[in-house]
Order: sequence, then structure tokens, then C-alpha cells
Amino acid sequence: MKATLDVNGRRLEAELAPDLRLSTYLRSLDLTGLKEGCCEGECGACTVLLDGRPVNSCLVFAFQAEGQEIVTIEGLSQGEGPYGLQQAFLDAGAVQCGYCTPGMVMSAEGLLRASAAPTEAEIRRALAGNICRCTGFETIVHAVAIEARRRRQEEASK
Ligand code: FES
Ligand code: FES
Repeated sequence: MKATLDVNGRRLEAELAPDLRLSTYLRSLDLTGLKEGCCEGECGACTVLLDGRPVNSCLVFAFQAEGQEIVTIEGLSQGEGPYGLQQAFLDAGAVQCGYCTPGMVMSAEGLLRASAAPTEAEIRRALAGNICRCTGFETIVHAVAIEARRRRQEEASK
């Protein structure tokens, strides 16, 4: 079936098999930051934003995303160097193997778009669908709190 998808601000015409996962479609565009880990909605490695909300792209058929704004980790980039949340993950030591990191960042981005000052409990809840086998999670929660604070300071200085 034919569909028009909005991926990281680009309108793309696509011929999509009805059972093609959004995660598979996006990776076929070389947007390989997201990972297809479990393909069952369990690990969060495939998380992208759909109209600003984090979703497991392995659980969405590509055609279902028509009419929604799709943002992948690549779409958060603002040119050279790491994006704010990515830098916060680096600063907090929240990256080890890195497999989970794009999905974590996307879930965190969804949270920070909805809430400028999330509590620790809210951060943990927002990341509950993302599995990390390496870091023990504390540094990731810390990274999101760092970035939330940086954004608030940036906003206050405008
Ligand atoms: Fe989508 Fe694991 S690959 S949740
Ligand atoms: Fe390795 Fe999270 S850093 S799975």
C-alpha cells in the first residue's frame, strides 16, 4: 500500500507491505540508531517519537504512522556534536555498550517535552519500558535529571 510518512521532517512516499514494522522501515532508511531488540514491545530499544510521544516502533505497522510526525534519534540532532540529552548521558556515565541508549534517549525526550521538571519517580516511570543490561539504571536516571535542569536553566535565561 502507498503511504506518505513524515520522518525527521522529511515527507517520504513509500510503498509499504501491510505487515512491515515501523522499526524495520526506519532502519531501511539507514536510521539505524533505533534497534530491533526483542520485536515484542519488551526492551524499548526501538523507541521513536510519534507526534511527540515515545512508542515502541516494533509494535507499529509502518502504514499506521501515516499522518503522524515520526522522530528518530537522528532527528534530534542539531548539527555537530551530541544533542543535549546525549551529552547528559555522557556526562553522567550512563552509556556502556550503548545498545539501549537511543531508545532511552527517545523515552527521556518524550518525558521532557511533556514535563519540564519531572520527579525521580516520574523519570523512572518514563523509562520503565526501556531495558539496560549494563548500567544499573541509576546513571541514566541521573542523566535525565541533569538534562531537565539544563533545559530549565536555558529557558530561564531567555
Ligand atoms: Fe521494540 Fe524491543 S525491539 S520493544
Ligand atoms: Fe548496554 Fe544499556 S548501556 S544495554
